[in-house]
Amino acid sequence: MKTAPSILTCDFARLDKALAALDRLGTDRLHLDVMDGVFVPNISFGPHMAACLRPLTSLPFDCHLMVQRPLGLLPAFAKAGADSITVHLECSDPTGELLARIRELGCRAGIALNPGTPVQAAYPWLCRVDTVLVMTVQPGFGGQALREDCLPKITALRREIRRQGLAVEIEADGGINADTLPAVAAAGCDVAVMGSALINARDPAALVALAAGL
Ligand code: DX5
Ligand code: ZN
Repeated sequence: MKTAPSILTCDFARLDKALAALDRLGTDRLHLDVMDGVFVPNISFGPHMAACLRPLTSLPFDCHLMVQRPLGLLPAFAKAGADSITVHLECSDPTGELLARIRELGCRAGIALNPGTPVQAAYPWLCRVDTVLVMTVQPGFGGQALREDCLPKITALRREIRRQGLAVEIEADGGINADTLPAVAAAGCDVAVMGSALINARDPAALVALAAGL
C-alpha cells in the first residue's frame, strides 16, 4: 500500500523541516488537508500554503478540500501546484461541475466520502474520478481513532470499481497507524493517508515500509 503523509498535525512554524524529513521517506504523495471552518469545525490553510510548500518537495500534492464551496478555490490550488484535488460529495457545489473543472485545470480528480455517507453515493462518479477518498474518521481533526465501520465501504468500493472495469484508486484517511494499517490494506485500500502516526513515529520509515509490504 502507498502512503500519503498529512501535514495537518505538523508544527506549521517548521513545515520546511517537516517536509525535508517526509521527503526522505519514499512516500507517494503529500496530503494537504484544507479546512474552511464551515464544512468542518476547524480551519487549516488555503492555496497560499500550498504555493509556499510547492518548491520544498517533489512529492505530488494531494489536496483534500474539506470546504463547503470549493469550486471558486480550484484555480488557485491548481496554480499553487496541486497534482490532485479531492472534493467532498457532501459539499454544496455540484459534483459533476467540480470534477469537470478539476480536470480542466489539469489536475487528477477525487471525491471524498464522510463516514456517514453510503458508499453507493460514489458509484455514479467512478467513471469521472481518479481517486475515491474514504474517510475513516469524521473530517476536521488529526489524531482521531479509525472507525472500523468505514472499512466495509472500502471493500464494497473495490468490488464496484472492478465491476465497472475501472482503474480508480482507493485512498483511506483518518486514524491509520501501525495497528490499523493491516485492516485497511485487507479491506482493499491502495493509498493510506497518515498524519499523526507518521509525524509522531519514532521510526517513520519503518511505518512507510510496513504499509509498502501490505
Ligand atoms: C482529517 C483529515 C485527515 C487527517 C489524518 O479531517 O482529512 O487527513 O489529517 O490525520 P490522522 O492520520 O492523524 O488521523
Ligand atoms: Zn485528509
